[in-house]
Amino acid sequence: MIQVDNLMDKKMIDGDEIEVTLRPQTLNEYIGQDELKEMMKVFIETAKMRSEALDHVLLYGPPGLGKTTLAHIIANEMNTGIKITTGPALSRPGDLAAILSSLEPGDVLFIDEIHRIPKVIEEILYSAMEDFVIDIVMGKDSAASTLRIDLPPFTLVGATTRFGDLTAPMRDRFGIIHQLKYYSNEELSTIIKRTSKIFAFPIDDDATLELARRSRGTPRIANRLFRRIRDFAQFENLDHITKTITDYALNKLDIDKAGLDITDRKYLLGLIERFKGGPAGIEALAATISEETVTLEDVNEPYLLQEGFIIRTHRGRVVTEKAYEHLGLKKNGLF
Ligand SMILES: Nc1ncnc2c1ncn2[C@@H]1O[C@H](COP(=O)(O)OP(=O)(O)OP(=O)(O)O)[C@@H](O)[C@H]1O
Ligand SMILES: [Mg+2]
Repeated sequence: MIQVDNLMDKKMIDGDEIEVTLRPQTLNEYIGQDELKEMMKVFIETAKMRSEALDHVLLYGPPGLGKTTLAHIIANEMNTGIKITTGPALSRPGDLAAILSSLEPGDVLFIDEIHRIPKVIEEILYSAMEDFVIDIVMGKDSAASTLRIDLPPFTLVGATTRFGDLTAPMRDRFGIIHQLKYYSNEELSTIIKRTSKIFAFPIDDDATLELARRSRGTPRIANRLFRRIRDFAQFENLDHITKTITDYALNKLDIDKAGLDITDRKYLLGLIERFKGGPAGIEALAATISEETVTLEDVNEPYLLQEGFIIRTHRGRVVTEKAYEHLGLKKNGLF
């Protein structure tokens, strides 16, 4: 039989405490991603009017843009509970069965890193999503029997940094699919001001804009850097964050004027110095600079691409003129 004891506890995950306090609770508090918010308002309101569970939602995009936050907001706005797990945590059919059979009608099941669900589990999820039933095979060979479990209607919210790694049947079962975008400097400034208020530690307007510019369009990074800058400010006995201390702290943290960190710069320099600016394949580049291919693909490249420091061609990655300029280098290796 399916072992439920303690399983749920083990599978539950939560962000670190600070992320939880900074996390907006409602769609109105959620800054930016306007298209997504407008759309979600409509779908949430109409689902509530019909007393139905919201359609399944797939959110994808680089880390730290607010996918987990949004999953919580959806449950909050729908006035339902939320159960949280991750793709790799669902290693056995029983794991999924346990979590699914604990759902109340209308609940949100949030599966982070949904592209990492094992194949066998994914297949069970198909019928759960489509017909709200699961069939669990118990025993082996001739003694095998199938147990059908009816589930209450629920909303699966899936999050992934790698949309391309999801199988087509999986993607097709989501009614709402949305890519989260990098935040503008204005939006990040609003997020930084909000964080400053929550921490009761003021920040000057020019400091806010500088931090926004150097946060890679990512709320999580803006919030993390805010805390570090506050440390530097308090260490200097300042009662608020100034532009000067912001510049000082960010330089100490090796965040450059464009918000690139050490890995971003290693990426660009690696391409320039070892591959004459490219084209180079991601594996070769990752090996050269001793970084994980996955990290470079999920975290660094999306931002370098969006900011025009690199382009992707069918033959590999190529640095742009902007990258040479930014690094203070001339093309053809002449300084
Ligand atoms: N729209 C937003 N408005 C205000 N704060 C936000 C917003 N989006 C994200 N944040 C802040 O950024 C933090 C990171 O967001 P979240 O954990 O939701 O990112 P994620 O997309 O789930 O990242 P990952 O892919 O790494 O799981 C949150 O704790 C929250 O403080
Ligand atoms: Mg997350």
